[in-house]
Amino acid sequence: MDMEKIITLCKSRGFVFPGSDIYDGLANTWDFGPLGVELKNNIKAAWWREFVTTNDNSVGLDGGILMNRNVWVASGHVAGFADPLMDCKACQTRTRADKLIEAHDANVNADGWTNEALEKYINDHHLTCPNCGKFAWTPIRQFNLMFATNRGVTTDTANQIFLRPETAQSEYINFANVQRSLRLKVPFGIGQIGKAFRNEITPGNFIFRTIEFEQMEHQLFCPADAAMGFYEQYKQKIWHFCTDVLGLNPEHLRFHDHEKLVFYAKAACDMEYLYPFGWGELNGTHHRGVHDLTNHQNLSKKNLMYQDPVTNAKYLPTVIESSQGVERLFLAIICDAYTEEKIADDDTRVVLKLNPNLAPYKVCVLPLQKKGLTATATKLYRDLQQHFATAYDDAGSIGKRYRRQDEIGTPFCVTVDYDTLNDQTVTIRDRDTMTQERVKIADLPAKVINILTAYNTKKNIL
Ligand code: GAP
Repeated sequence: MDMEKIITLCKSRGFVFPGSDIYDGLANTWDFGPLGVELKNNIKAAWWREFVTTNDNSVGLDGGILMNRNVWVASGHVAGFADPLMDCKACQTRTRADKLIEAHDANVNADGWTNEALEKYINDHHLTCPNCGKFAWTPIRQFNLMFATNRGVTTDTANQIFLRPETAQSEYINFANVQRSLRLKVPFGIGQIGKAFRNEITPGNFIFRTIEFEQMEHQLFCPADAAMGFYEQYKQKIWHFCTDVLGLNPEHLRFHDHEKLVFYAKAACDMEYLYPFGWGELNGTHHRGVHDLTNHQNLSKKNLMYQDPVTNAKYLPTVIESSQGVERLFLAIICDAYTEEKIADDDTRVVLKLNPNLAPYKVCVLPLQKKGLTATATKLYRDLQQHFATAYDDAGSIGKRYRRQDEIGTPFCVTVDYDTLNDQTVTIRDRDTMTQERVKIADLPAKVINILTAYNTKKNIL
């Protein structure tokens, strides 16, 4: 799998464009094009169904991006959400010390090392600047990843607020609001999808690491003694979601348990995907104890205690978090689906073998010729649009049009020809097998819906 080919396809077919493209870009930003936004929406809908609507005792939330500064004081982000950075005095390039070490030796995990330990390793191994090759580092400084801005007209710290670096905190600060307004009983969960922002300076590997991204996060609030069981259950849930629901190849996925845990965590693991540049974090499952609710209760001085309706015991529930980045999943799905198929000695086709329910378009209507067929084809296009996302293409040869739809993952092409005018039938072509079948127009919506539903039922999606 070649990352350059994936990036080229994403740009040329309208999935992902470089951010601020006409102004020569802005590092680690990307815009999602017409097909990208459809794929993203389908991924988010699938997650919402899996983690919110069909997940017992789970409800949704749409919290603000901007929150009171104290949210980030209580969460620890103001004091500790930082990367160890150093500058090359020769070429002024900024580098993350831990990533430089990990790039030098893939077996080393430098996450959480002190500045002294990082500097010692870099000096002992004489790690030079990846940009200019010189060895001229400034001392390492901790650089906070949050984007700060100001509320109102003055720029003092009291007015400083942050673009949220994760969506989770609004699920914690709204724990009592949600529980009390819906009279929910523990265990229950809050799911949320929304933007998060981090001032990442390391190269992003396309949309893998960006400064603006979307998270799909679910917090389960449960009694402490049930938490490890739920932690295992949510590991299995995200595995099931990625493999059975979305259709990712299990051989491209693995769990990676965190070796060093933050002091409050009882367990934490990442699920990794085998991207073209190697294994990379796709999502995380975390046992966060009572850390978040305790800190917010202490700083806000508001009572966040839950009272068990049967025993009357009052306590702060333990949190099990499932956190998934939309863009990392998007990239994994495109990488898994990208296929080059040799169909003749001198002919190779590119096919995006997407799960049909994730595909931006389910069907494309193609009139064999414009002459005499446009009215019938347009009517069919408009009818099918009432049922599912449908495309229309009448430009170029039929073969080229099939290939264009293969490249964007459209599961079915429907061709209108001159026989259609007499017998009200069309040809339906399957993306993966390229087999064609003649069907009545009247039967078409039901036929496609049946195929999608069969997939849904099997995979529990959408
Ligand atoms: N609330 C927990 C949390 O935010 P995290 O491991 O920092 O944990 C969770 O992030 C997920 O968010 C990651 O597994 C990844 O999918 C996504 N993510 C994090 N930083 C990202 C970035 N800079 N660009 C794209 N996705 C990112």
